Amino acid sequence: MRKKIVAGNWKMNTDLSQAVELIEQIVSKSTNSSAQIIICPPYPFLDKAVNTCKNSLIKVGAQNCSQNNNGAFTGEISVEMLKSLNVEYIIVGHSERRSYFNEDNIQIAAKVEKCLENGITPIFCCGEQLSDRNTNNHFDVIKNQTEESLFQLSESDFSKIVIAYEPVWAIGNGNTATPQQAQEMHHYIRELIAKKYGKKCGDSTPILYGGSCNAKNAKELFALPDVDGGLIGGASLKAEEFITISNSF
Ligand code: 13P
Repeated sequence: MRKKIVAGNWKMNTDLSQAVELIEQIVSKSTNSSAQIIICPPYPFLDKAVNTCKNSLIKVGAQNCSQNNNGAFTGEISVEMLKSLNVEYIIVGHSERRSYFNEDNIQIAAKVEKCLENGITPIFCCGEQLSDRNTNNHFDVIKNQTEESLFQLSESDFSKIVIAYEPVWAIGNGNTATPQQAQEMHHYIRELIAKKYGKKCGDSTPILYGGSCNAKNAKELFALPDVDGGLIGGASLKAEEFITISNSF
């Protein structure tokens, strides 16, 4: 059985008091979830999140990291720093990083490797633009993103990662992928993994769906054979809704 995961990507939202309130609410409501719940607050609130979640079922992740070791990189955050905070997951290659900060597949590959070197689980994001889908290039885009950023890994390293399929056209706008679109792409990704690393590896890699996933549609999406949970943006900022989503298996 693959791990079920619901991860909340808070993006650049909340101030300190809002973050503390949200973390505490999520912790107090999450006592009987069968899924692994992960929250990914902004960097300044990670230490608080780790400490508040210490005796709960909730794990904490960061939204990004540098591909470099500590040193002269003003404004950057290293994986070593995040590890020292006991952060256990890092989102890598989110489409907002790709489009606003020009991250490419090679840089993302380096970030994935840096996470693994430090014993942190990367949540690797892939996803096509609407124009890719409209020109029927969506499978090729996902193939390229996964091959260039992940397929340099050994099988043992690959078996430690989590993948999130987030079609860019579905993010933040209510245009959730249809169950058919999600299942088709998740199945395709699993086949790519199986071809490269073998069926066992393909069958055991958690693949999350992200893009306007909410309390209303999570059940249908999470029931799909190749969908193992979600990477949630907007709906992860409301404790009640986020917990409802994490109970949607
Ligand atoms: P929304 O759930 O707000 O569409 O965001 C999805 C996302 O980008 C999660 O990483």
